[in-house]
Amino acid sequence: MTTSPDLPARPGTGPQAGSPTQVADLPARPGTGLLISVEGGDGVGKTTQIGLLEAALKEAGVEYVLTREPGGTELGASIRRLLLHGGYVSPRAEALLYAADRAHHVATCILPALERGAVVLTDRYLDSSVAYQGAARALGPQEVRDLSLWATGSLLPDLTVLLDADPALTAQRARERGLGDRIEQEPDSFRATLRQEFLDLAAAEPDRFVVVDAAQEIEAVGRQVSAAVLPLLRERLAQGRLARRGSAGRLAQQGTEQPARGSTEQPARGSTEQLAQRAQEVGQ
Ligand code: TYD
Repeated sequence: MTTSPDLPARPGTGPQAGSPTQVADLPARPGTGLLISVEGGDGVGKTTQIGLLEAALKEAGVEYVLTREPGGTELGASIRRLLLHGGYVSPRAEALLYAADRAHHVATCILPALERGAVVLTDRYLDSSVAYQGAARALGPQEVRDLSLWATGSLLPDLTVLLDADPALTAQRARERGLGDRIEQEPDSFRATLRQEFLDLAAAEPDRFVVVDAAQEIEAVGRQVSAAVLPLLRERLAQGRLARRGSAGRLAQQGTEQPARGSTEQPARGSTEQLAQRAQEVGQ
């Protein structure tokens, strides 16, 4: 009998066969909007690339919500503090807290935005749990994925951009940022496992994932990321499945909790003219 690392085996009992059940409280994925997640190990440059993408979404004139996990909602912000800046959290509790953050995030922020036809750009989503808790913490990728699928009513992104780089490089970048949260203090083996799991996930779902070499210059990474995102944006716009920014007001404030970083904020520094021009063309 195998057990996950943080729980001792309970003598005299075996796993119980569960009966298949349905998640009842979440609506089916709406046919509008676009859900894009950006994934990768710590220090791969997610924040910079998300800033560039935000600039492109602004230029394209579409409604969008920029959010993140953990911490995309008020409840999530509390969970984030517990996870990243509190005391020791046991691996299973960690997995459940990330899943709880995600469940609330989907129900109160992501789904309502998709229903309104917005592009939702999320800094991390379910694949982070599979890679960090499932693989790097050895809780089991499939179990952790199933937990998140239950939490989200099986909502998967339309597109996942995986920023991939050598763990030695990402560790150096994380150190340079000097944030030092709990997970960034993990050893090199943790990062190596993490990277491999992300790559395996991408290989298993090639239609959903785009893998970008994050060791390149920022602009080169940005070009590859936009080459993955803009055609999809163009396609959804042509199908009338995306809302344009306009009189309807800002999405992030309509009846949902405010995401950690809303669409009212300025795009990040360093957006390139080229990217902006291509995004503008998409919106025309
Ligand atoms: P992130 O917000 O990307 O960190 P930062 O803003 O410091 O770059 O992610 C926070 C940390 O949480 C990061 O180390 C990855 C980890 N994490 C998980 O372990 N599991 C998850 O499901 C998610 C979403 C994040």
